[in-house]
Amino acid sequence: MTSETITAAASGNWKLGDLTVNRIGFGAMRLPQTGKALVPDAVPRDRDQAISVLRRAVELGVNHIDTAAFYFSALRSANELINRALAPYPDDLVITTKVGEPRDPSGAWLPHARPDQLRGLVEENLRQLGRDHLDVVNLRIVGADSIAERFGALAELREAGLIRHLGISNVLPHHLAEAQAIAPVVCVQNMYGLGLRPDQDAFVRTCGEQGVAFVPFYAIAATGRQAGASDSDHPEILAVARAHEASPAQVRIAWTLHRGPHVLAIPGTGDPDHLVANVAAGALRLSEDEVALLDSLHRRNP
Ligand SMILES: NC(=O)c1ccc[n+]([C@@H]2O[C@H](COP(=O)([O-])OP(=O)(O)OC[C@H]3O[C@@H](n4cnc5c(N)ncnc54)[C@H](OP(=O)(O)O)[C@@H]3O)[C@@H](O)[C@H]2O)c1
Repeated sequence: MTSETITAAASGNWKLGDLTVNRIGFGAMRLPQTGKALVPDAVPRDRDQAISVLRRAVELGVNHIDTAAFYFSALRSANELINRALAPYPDDLVITTKVGEPRDPSGAWLPHARPDQLRGLVEENLRQLGRDHLDVVNLRIVGADSIAERFGALAELREAGLIRHLGISNVLPHHLAEAQAIAPVVCVQNMYGLGLRPDQDAFVRTCGEQGVAFVPFYAIAATGRQAGASDSDHPEILAVARAHEASPAQVRIAWTLHRGPHVLAIPGTGDPDHLVANVAAGALRLSEDEVALLDSLHRRNP
């Protein structure tokens, strides 16, 4: 299933607030480097290759790109690449970014930003992307502490017109209610996928019931996390892939989309062929039996 004629529109769409996006989007974390992401010694990716992947994504109908100012290697920044490849931006393109724990210029992680430091992180994204406002900003947290003060600071930036819509990332269910008491939440971005964090299933459903998009990360990479996808996969996934002449990565994307109409995919890749395959996965319709087989694998949490 690598047809170049399948566009992201085949996956259906969803509204992030007033912004309509195709359910197959793109995650920009893989673009600044080859190999493992978010490490200080990451190997910078060829700039032209990264730019061509971004332009091809938009040609294929992708209109939801996930990024962050802390996605960078020594010589490349995801935001700079997006700006270089896509500005002036198409009217329908929604760029989602995230703020929370920044990285220093050497790539080392810094402590989570205090509420009064979040404006600076938002402005850093505005500068790098060359925009006057950000479409969607996720507050990305670590831990179970209250997010009220930090989310409140972002809500003020939303009121001031710097941000159109807010989301939250790496959160527990109680954070959603806490944030919603302060300002509308359009998306939750958490680690989730086939066999990855089945304990999140109820939270995924809760988001759907409340009209909040659930945007999983590592849906392909799974337990490989920032190191990336593995070459091998489970027999159940391989069997379903064979039946559709698809790849295991495509089955993983399709399964996440089958979790509900509010689930949006943001597969990350620096490989043009993988990009085409990931977009085509939005047209992959699994049978009830296949979903049941994959669900049982998921619940076993292999
Ligand atoms: N909020 C957070 O805390 C957080 C954390 C991590 C990520 N994210 C966001 O989520 C996005 C998705 O995560 P991700 O990019 O790490 O992981 P992913 O989409 O789950 O998987 C990416 C990995 O899978 C490989 N891959 C992609 N398409 C493939 C295909 N069709 N066939 C085989 N291999 C394929 C990629 O390598 P190739 O480059 O070789 O294709 C890479 O190793 C990120 O880009 C980022 O925007 C958010």
